[in-house]
Amino acid sequence: MLRTHTCGELTVKNVGEEVVLAGWVQSIRDHGGLVFVDLRDRYGITQLVYSPQENEKLESAVKSLKNESVIRIKGKVVKRPPETVNKKIKTGEIEVKIEEIEILNFSKPLPFEIGSTSCGEEIRLKYRYLDMRREKFMENIIKRSKFTHYVREFLHGENFVEVETPILTKSTPEGARDFLVPSRLNPGKFYALPQSPQLFKQLIMIGGLDKYFQIARCFRDEDLRADRQPEFTQIDIEMSFINEDDVISLVERMIKFSVEKLLGIEIEIPFKRIDYNKSLELYGTDSPDLRIGLEMEDLTDTFINTESEILKRIIKSGGKIKGMKIEEGEKISLKEIENLNQFVKERGGEGIGWIRFTDSGIQSPLKRYIKNEEIEDLKGRLKISPGNLLLFLGGEREWVNKTLGEIRVHLGKKLFSDDKNLNFVWIVNFPLFEYNQEEKRLQTKHHPFTSPVEEDIPIIEKEPLKVRARAYDLILNGIEIGGGSIRINKRDLQEKIFKMIGLKEEEYRERFGFLLEALEYGAPPHGGIAIGLDRLIMILLGEETIREVMLFPKTQKGICPLTDAPSSVEEWQLKENRIKVDILQKK
Ligand code: AMO
Repeated sequence: MLRTHTCGELTVKNVGEEVVLAGWVQSIRDHGGLVFVDLRDRYGITQLVYSPQENEKLESAVKSLKNESVIRIKGKVVKRPPETVNKKIKTGEIEVKIEEIEILNFSKPLPFEIGSTSCGEEIRLKYRYLDMRREKFMENIIKRSKFTHYVREFLHGENFVEVETPILTKSTPEGARDFLVPSRLNPGKFYALPQSPQLFKQLIMIGGLDKYFQIARCFRDEDLRADRQPEFTQIDIEMSFINEDDVISLVERMIKFSVEKLLGIEIEIPFKRIDYNKSLELYGTDSPDLRIGLEMEDLTDTFINTESEILKRIIKSGGKIKGMKIEEGEKISLKEIENLNQFVKERGGEGIGWIRFTDSGIQSPLKRYIKNEEIEDLKGRLKISPGNLLLFLGGEREWVNKTLGEIRVHLGKKLFSDDKNLNFVWIVNFPLFEYNQEEKRLQTKHHPFTSPVEEDIPIIEKEPLKVRARAYDLILNGIEIGGGSIRINKRDLQEKIFKMIGLKEEEYRERFGFLLEALEYGAPPHGGIAIGLDRLIMILLGEETIREVMLFPKTQKGICPLTDAPSSVEEWQLKENRIKVDILQKK
């Protein structure tokens, strides 16, 4: 070992000991008579002190030190004078008197100051190995490692077996584009990188290994966002001879175990469950943030005999009026409401309606159209008291839900931003299919291996949009952190679903023939889930993007600024793979 202790370890108990430390020079303070050096490693910071009077030989070495040079020193642990004690760090009561110093490597002037994030993300990604020295980021990466350790500990304790599944494989559809890899040995053919291990984990169930998990890398070519990367990690789980409640309960216990160990807080289980349709009606989304104490209410009945021409028109054309009560109405200014009005108009709406309830009556731009009985009805329904503000919106039902839902989230950031709790909720009772307007065809809401609810099987062909799926999503603070389902384990049903989503027999045989065949060899009832590890860790550690919990993420354009991937390849590599690159120019 090049060191006897780490930089986060020494305390008054070590006073008098001779120690050897190694690390990076965080800062140098030359106080004339004395030079102080903060030496840093992963574990902390130790103050070194050097006195030229006591040890002249070392002066040129100490003076030549630059920030972020990596050094090794030998010295004696001494107590700091009381007035210089730093209570904030573990080593704050001692310092090490330098007796020998070895400069292991110098550092050039840095492209940005270590710890600073103001220089822009691209430069930090280009020099990620320097950005890693940022305390919070290093802590994130270490906590991520601990978390996966706890997850493994829990799942092994439940008798799950961890396996690896292929990366060079065939397409597994999860709703994104595949990344393709050419096969040199099979010219003109391509592997696809897995969007998830979905089909393999089902095959593993058929093989009889009834409790599988994997900390699995997944690859999806899709537009990137704060919580999306082209490669990311799932805690992937599959089980046989179980139903929805078994998977849900396992995940709740796993999260409770691992999060409590990581953060030392208490997680209450079971988590709340909300029906998909109810979630859309109350929150306008299937990933609601329940820390936001605002709910949407259907007010169409209240305004059924309205005198407002706009509302009348909306109701007559089959639309809905939905409203949202804001307790602390005074926190929303007229200017804010005008911004919301613009927001609604930009999305093709008529604008937003509002009523402010005061001790002396109401304020509203629609005041002269609103009847007393309507006011009384609203007061009863929404339990209105003075100071409340009611916002309402009319239009086609889905549009109203979505738009008012977005307003809910927007206002939530202002009104409920103090809530730092973790709010987990399951969304259940999803429809199996949804209609894809652009492609004019049905598609499955989750992946096509999701089982319908048994009693809905007879109506699959007649009323497909009414068929319920045996699927569940897990939402944390308004972000989808996981999804899964009970699977189809019979070939004929699986074929029927493929047909319903517009796949021809030759197509689904070519793509999924191996699965269909496997379903004929004693496929047990099975189901599972995948939790997005990056997203979960991001929220647990209070970060805004998953890039802050991933070591080497890509930029918005899918580029790695550090390695410059993706890049062109040599002509001979293309030849070997029998590939000719012909970039089509956009006209
Ligand atoms: P799904 O597609 O819902 O399900 O993915 C599961 C979870 O993975 C996370 N996730 C992502 N995280 C970061 N970047 C991405 N591009 C990305 N895409 C998804 C989300 C999501 O909830 N095979 C099924 C699971 C199953 O049915 O068992 C699947 O992959 O948190």
